[in-house]
Amino acid sequence: MHVAIVLGTRPEIVKMSPIIRYCEELGLDYSLIHTGQHYSYEMDAAFFHDLELPKPGYKLNVGSGTHAEQTGKIMVGLERILIHDRPDVVLVQGDTNTVLGSALSAAKLNIDVGHVEAGLRSRDRTMPEEINRLLTDHIARYLFAPTELARSNLLQEGIDEEKIRVTGNTVVDAVLQNIEIAEQRSRIFRDLDLMPGGYFVLTAHRQENVDNREKLGNLIAAMRELHSIYGLPILFPAHPRTLKRLDEFGLSVPEGIRILEPQGYLEFLLLERSARAILTDSGGIQEEACILHVPCITLRENTERPETLETGGNILAGTDPGRILQAVSTVLSAEASWTNPFGDGRSGKKIVDILLGDR
Ligand code: UD1
Ligand code: UDP
Repeated sequence: MHVAIVLGTRPEIVKMSPIIRYCEELGLDYSLIHTGQHYSYEMDAAFFHDLELPKPGYKLNVGSGTHAEQTGKIMVGLERILIHDRPDVVLVQGDTNTVLGSALSAAKLNIDVGHVEAGLRSRDRTMPEEINRLLTDHIARYLFAPTELARSNLLQEGIDEEKIRVTGNTVVDAVLQNIEIAEQRSRIFRDLDLMPGGYFVLTAHRQENVDNREKLGNLIAAMRELHSIYGLPILFPAHPRTLKRLDEFGLSVPEGIRILEPQGYLEFLLLERSARAILTDSGGIQEEACILHVPCITLRENTERPETLETGGNILAGTDPGRILQAVSTVLSAEASWTNPFGDGRSGKKIVDILLGDR
C-alpha cells in the first residue's frame, strides 16, 4: 500500500507528525507532500526540525493568496503528483485550504481520501474552515473521527457508518511524544525570564477575528485590562497574519503584552503547560490546553471542539473585553481535574493500522 501524506500548515505538521513517525517505524511505502501554504521558517521548517521529521519528497510552493487562488494551486499541483504516483490513499488532516484542495484532487482521480480529524463542526458556515471540513468529510473514504461526538456529527449528515472510525486525536500523541523532549531541550523560561504560572499566553489568527479592525482592537483592549488586573505579562507569539493586520490597522500593543515570534513546538508546549491561563482562537491550542489541564478562554463565539467546554476548563468568550475578563475569572476558579476527551496518545498508530488492515 502506498499512502500519500499531504500537509501544508503549522498545525498539520504537528498533528501529522505521529503518523509520519509511525510510517517511518514500520518502513511503510509512503510519500510526504508539502503544499507550501505555510512557508516562513518559524511557521514551517522550525517544526520539521523540532519534530525531527523527514524532508517532504514534494513541495508545491503554493504560498499565500485568496482562498480560490490557494485552493486552486493546491489542486493543480497535487493532481500532477497523484497522476504520476497513483497512491492508494491520500491522507489529509484538519480543515485548511490544503485539506480541501488535496481531497478534491484525489477524489476526482478516484483515489481514496483519508480525513484525519473528521466530523468537527462549529455550525458556522462563515468560517472558511467549516466549509473545508464539511466538503472533505463528504468526499472522504476514511473518516478518522477524534471523538464519539465527531462521529455522531457525521452520522447526522448521512455519512455511511462503515467509513467512520473513532481514533482519538493525534494531537494527544504529539503532546505526549514531545513534552519530555521539550523539558530536556528547551531553555525558554530562562530565555524569556519567566516563572512558571507567572504569565498568560495569547494567540489569535482567525480570519473572522484579526481581519476585523473592531474585533482585533477589542482583543487588544481586553489584554490591556487583563494585565492591569492580574499584573502578569501576556506572552503573544504572533501569527504573521495578525502582525500584518496590527500594522495595517495602526493598532499598537500596550505595555504588558510581549509580542514574540511564533514559537517552536517544544518551546510552545512548555509555555502552554505552565501558563496561568491561555487565551486563544486556535483550534489546536484549545485541545492542547485541555490535554495539559490548563485553563483556556476561547476568543470566539463558537467552537468545533465542544468537548473542551464540557470539561469546564474552556469557556467561549468572543472578543468583548467584559466577557473575556469574566471568563478568565470563572475559568481560573474551576477545578482542573477533567479527563482528556481526545484519546490515549495512540491515534496515529490506530489510523495507520486501520489503513493497513483494510488493504
Ligand atoms: C491557515 C488556515 C487556518 C489555520 C492556520 C494555522 C485556511 C483557510 N486557514 O490560516 O485554518 O488555523 O493556517 O496557522 O487554510 N503568512 C506568512 N508566512 C507563512 C504563512 C502565512 O507570512 O508561512 C501570512 C501571509 O501574509 C498570509 C497570511 O499569513 O497571507 C495568512 O496565511 P494563510 O495560510 O492564508 O492563512 P492562515 O491565517 O495562516
Ligand atoms: N504553536 C506553536 N507555536 C506557536 C503557536 C502555536 O508551536 O507560537 C502550535 C500549537 O502548539 C499547536 C499548533 O501550533 O500545536 C496550532 O496551530 P494554529 O493555532 O496556527 O492553528 P489551528 O490549530 O487553529 O488550526
